[in-house]
Amino acid sequence: MSTLPAPAIGDRTLFPTLRPLVYANHAGIAVPSARVLAAATTVHEDYAARGFEAFPTWIAQRRRLKEKLARLVGAVPDAIALTQNTTRGLVNLALCFPWTRGDRVLLFRGEFPANVTPWQRAAELFGLDVVFEDADTFRTDPEAAFDALARALDRGIRLVAVSAVEFQTGFRMPVRTIAARCHERGAQVAVDAVQACGVVPIDMAADGIDYLSCGSHKWLMSLEGCGFVACAPEHAAALRPNVAGWLGHEDGLKFLFEGPGHLRTDRPIRKTIDFMEDGNSNTAGFAALEAAVDTLHELGVPAIHAHVNRWNDAVEAALLERGFTSARATDAAGRSGSLCVLPPAGVDGVGLHRALVKRGLACAVPDGYLRLSPHWPNALSELDTALGIIDEALGALA
Ligand SMILES: Cc1ncc(COP(=O)(O)O)c(C=O)c1O
Repeated sequence: MSTLPAPAIGDRTLFPTLRPLVYANHAGIAVPSARVLAAATTVHEDYAARGFEAFPTWIAQRRRLKEKLARLVGAVPDAIALTQNTTRGLVNLALCFPWTRGDRVLLFRGEFPANVTPWQRAAELFGLDVVFEDADTFRTDPEAAFDALARALDRGIRLVAVSAVEFQTGFRMPVRTIAARCHERGAQVAVDAVQACGVVPIDMAADGIDYLSCGSHKWLMSLEGCGFVACAPEHAAALRPNVAGWLGHEDGLKFLFEGPGHLRTDRPIRKTIDFMEDGNSNTAGFAALEAAVDTLHELGVPAIHAHVNRWNDAVEAALLERGFTSARATDAAGRSGSLCVLPPAGVDGVGLHRALVKRGLACAVPDGYLRLSPHWPNALSELDTALGIIDEALGALA
């Protein structure tokens, strides 16, 4: 790994096999750097060489990863559990939250379903009432959105589930203010942070986020199949261990290493959120994630945020000139890493997306928006190429 060049903002040297001329789909699936691939390979090679003896090495790595993740999101390492993806973290929270029958959960219409379905399932299981408000109103009419939130909270809400950044508009939700309003009324807040972590500064403690879940394959720039879930430390003990597995017991590994007498299933389940780490999991993915998070720490999330927004400023201005409508917030506080636009009248968004990808501009078309999501390796010098592709694609569709 030490022979690889250091990462640098605007430099894709660490992505030597990347094919698209411009890769702007990190909000979909990020491209892993050579560093990330090397970290995953190291784990596979270690197991290939040592088999079971490699296991304790990589169990220990998880502690280091949690410390780095904690630093990234303003959490406490002991209040983090490693998971498979964003959804698994939210499912676990929904199943383990200390519900009382009749509790109300506030969800948002227009959110990515990862932060809706698990709460709906919990409602079915635990006899909860689900209420919905509109997510997009926070972008289009914040006063009305906060009024609606206040009215819902007045009727009694136990938990509000919200995304830090909306996947189709790229709007950065006012999570800190939402959390403050919720706490004033005794409600807690669970945040899907997968469209934010890595490109938008997040600080669970300062933002008042009670629970947070995030997957690794978007803005964290690692591989699929990993994620983490975190809670404010004071909430961990109240979680019900409804998803605990064999690794959730206190001293649950002793029977494998310390002789007879330790094979017991009556050991208490840990009172820390890592009881959610149920069984053997994605060790290579966690090593890859550590390499990806190291890179984010080296470059700094605020610097990455500023860089991608410079890229987005230029592309947005050019798209507006070409008749696109932008969903990007005019206020910097509402901006994430994604630039989401609607095509000019008469241009089919899905067809345009296909034409762009074919010509080498990787982007996405979630829920009808054309979404461009650059990250730290995107150079400002690739903007001419991106705009050339856009003009060619528009011409081909005309
Ligand atoms: C806001 C949001 N949440 C969750 C997901 C899916 O998360 P995962 O596949 O990590 O469960 C996505 C996109 O895939 C998303 O945009």
